[in-house]
Amino acid sequence: MESYHDYAIKDGKLIGKYDEMYQKFEDPWVQSTQPNRYSRTIAIMNIKRFGIKNIIEYGCGLGYYAEWIYKETGVIPKSIDISPTAILRAKEKFPNLNFEVGNILDMHLLKNKDQVDCILLADIMWYILDDLKNINQKLLKNFRGKYLINNFVTYRDGVQKYGREFFTSTKEFIHYMPFKLVG
Ligand SMILES: C[S@@+](CC[C@H](N)C(=O)[O-])C[C@H]1O[C@@H](n2cnc3c(N)ncnc32)[C@H](O)[C@@H]1O
Repeated sequence: MESYHDYAIKDGKLIGKYDEMYQKFEDPWVQSTQPNRYSRTIAIMNIKRFGIKNIIEYGCGLGYYAEWIYKETGVIPKSIDISPTAILRAKEKFPNLNFEVGNILDMHLLKNKDQVDCILLADIMWYILDDLKNINQKLLKNFRGKYLINNFVTYRDGVQKYGREFFTSTKEFIHYMPFKLVG
């Protein structure tokens, strides 16, 4: 049976057909159930703890995490996804939040250096690995905030094969990233 995974990563290769995927599948990655709840909760605690007010979220998907952040902290992230279908659906579900189509590679919305204190990457890392060096360089140039939050970079045994050429553990990932990672 066809799986949404086939449109994202298949047989250890990045496919990247996200919009087609969102057109065919209602809830890919079971986003509505908020997987990886533990790391997401820690990230929310850190948003409060560090008084983070201005968040850009890349790869927001259907917007569930943005809604959770808003409910818990009162902060509305500027949420961006490469898939127009995902953004359309996020806007329908959460009309009070802030969604836009964009590619993290364009550093969409990261124009005013002083006004963004957090970049949020929730479960998007696998899909941007090929461009990570480039993305980090652009962030180092344009991002003056202190915090970059990423949720869930671990390898589930036998499941996640793609990405091992970049780093093979959360520890290596943290070492690789040139930012303070919170959550
Ligand atoms: C695993 S989903 C995570 C969705 C959401 N953050 C969550 O955790 O529920 C990865 C998302 O990243 C988006 N994405 C992939 N590459 C992207 C890129 N270059 N720029 C922006 N979004 C991207 C996909 O469309 C997809 O919605």
